[in-house]
Amino acid sequence: MRLRRPTVGDLPTLNRILKESRAYQGQYAPMLVGYAISADQLARDHFELAEDDKGVIGFFSLTPGEPVELDLMFVADARQGQGFGGQLFQAAVGAARGMGGVRMLIVSNPPAESFYLRQGARRVGEAPPGGRVTWARPILHLDLN
Ligand SMILES: CC(C)(COP(=O)(O)OP(=O)(O)OC[C@H]1O[C@@H](n2cnc3c(N)ncnc32)[C@H](O)[C@@H]1OP(=O)(O)O)[C@@H](O)C(=O)NCCC(=O)NCCS
Repeated sequence: MRLRRPTVGDLPTLNRILKESRAYQGQYAPMLVGYAISADQLARDHFELAEDDKGVIGFFSLTPGEPVELDLMFVADARQGQGFGGQLFQAAVGAARGMGGVRMLIVSNPPAESFYLRQGARRVGEAPPGGRVTWARPILHLDLN
């Protein structure tokens, strides 16, 4: 798995992975209605894309601040369950440390919570439903030092 910073030319691929994600079909679909990663967002946040000879594996984005927020974290459906998510998460932790972060914040899609717990994050609360998000979302923290 190789990591690189995506460019504007990668936006269609990133948005395709997001839109095609099984995790956001069915009951969690409203979360991403009308949502697409923008060029501004790409310039503002810290994105990293993972790929290998078979193509793009997934990506993450971090929003700078304290705590650093893991905003997006996606492994393409066909590439899940093969250890890439764990590697991508460790890369995000390394990048967050590199940004000087002390703590990482994750507001998780409910089915992904156990993945983040497995990576060492701890649940600290719950974001209540609001707007089109009609379900509560787990809030997790990971200490970076
Ligand atoms: C969550 C996600 C990133 C995990 O990626 P992945 O490549 O499938 O994960 P890995 O294969 O690296 O698995 C790492 C570990 O987490 C576990 N795991 C992975 N997905 C899990 C899940 N949904 N629930 C529970 N455990 C999970 C694996 O069993 C593995 O455990 P192990 O270390 O004991 O072997 C991926 O499923 C994904 O992109 N989901 C859709 C988008 C999404 O929901 N993103 C999170 C938004 S908050």
